[in-house]
Amino acid sequence: MDTDDLNNLVAAILIPAIVLDSEFRILAANRPSRALFDSKLQGLDFVRIVRQPGALECLANVIKVRKPVQCKLVLHQQTPRTFLANAAPLSDPSIEVEHILFTLQDISDRIDAEKARSAFVANVSHELRSPLTSLLGAVETLKGPARNDPKARERFLDLMQNEAERMSRLVADLLSLSKLEAKEHLPPKTRIDLLKIIQKVEQSLAASRSEYAGRVEIQAPAPLPMIRGDQDQMTEVFQNLIENALKYSKPDTPVLLKITHEFKPKNQLTVHIEDQGEGIAPEHIPRLTERFYRVDKGRSRQTGGTGLGLAITKHILNRHRARLTISSQLAKGTTISVRLKV
Ligand SMILES: Nc1ncnc2c1ncn2[C@@H]1O[C@H](COP(=O)(O)OP(=O)(O)OP(=O)(O)O)[C@@H](O)[C@H]1O
Ligand SMILES: [Mg+2]
Repeated sequence: MDTDDLNNLVAAILIPAIVLDSEFRILAANRPSRALFDSKLQGLDFVRIVRQPGALECLANVIKVRKPVQCKLVLHQQTPRTFLANAAPLSDPSIEVEHILFTLQDISDRIDAEKARSAFVANVSHELRSPLTSLLGAVETLKGPARNDPKARERFLDLMQNEAERMSRLVADLLSLSKLEAKEHLPPKTRIDLLKIIQKVEQSLAASRSEYAGRVEIQAPAPLPMIRGDQDQMTEVFQNLIENALKYSKPDTPVLLKITHEFKPKNQLTVHIEDQGEGIAPEHIPRLTERFYRVDKGRSRQTGGTGLGLAITKHILNRHRARLTISSQLAKGTTISVRLKV
């Protein structure tokens, strides 16, 4: 094959592909490979482009075994990316290798997804293990030392109920997350009254705990337009955001919930939820919407939090093409804003 043939061959491949001779000089390179290495490539020595011993070993092996050889390579572009490299002779195994076709398949996303999945499984197991351990401990105590002690029995049964409720909340949140992921690309069609939803959430939170009652002040211009949205999902969003504002601030501090309506540049509603709580340090803010991320694991767990609330919130808002912004100052308070299209 001459250089033109080789160039035509690599041009037909959609991922980075180059052809080398048996001394590893580059004879032909397609556009994706030139973009990847930011170089013309043709005529250059492979060792000057890829300085990893693994890659050279891979090529040397092809010469030796006269069969395709694969290896993994990490290339340090702006960010490190992992590639599956495939080096294959362009001739049949009975003759010496003259030309090698070298292709690079970017598998970074697959590796990231695998890592995320295993971290997720580890997190879920960890979150389930602690309530389970408490439950088993309580059962043990009830069967043994506390068997004939009605007071202790009462206490342990309460503890068991709390832990079981915690697990059940966790499982419900996980289910809700996986359902959301499946539906995220389908924007909701129904129209909803945002203020009504927020008022209902406030009422149910006030009824759920005495320290939440009477703390939320709602300000909204009238009349507010209806927005496109899913009633249950929006309830879940504001349930979590308002509860967070109440939960992560002192019982005697107010929470201001202000809705604003802008017409320009876009017709949109913004809900600001402002608390005077402990605030969040800047390094945590970008990570809050990750699953299971909590600033203070121990304490949030005590208050019953699973750290899934904001992850669910973000998925729902994505589905609504809405934006969540978090601004916070330590010891001053946090303002969460949700911008929704009308
Ligand atoms: N208004 C707030 N003020 C201070 N910290 C907050 C506020 N909102 C959220 N956080 C922090 O962000 C973390 C994640 O919040 P998220 O709602 O995802 O989880 P959670 O409240 O711990 O548990 P869940 O909502 O699943 O019951 C919280 O643990 C808390 O540390
Ligand atoms: Mg929460």
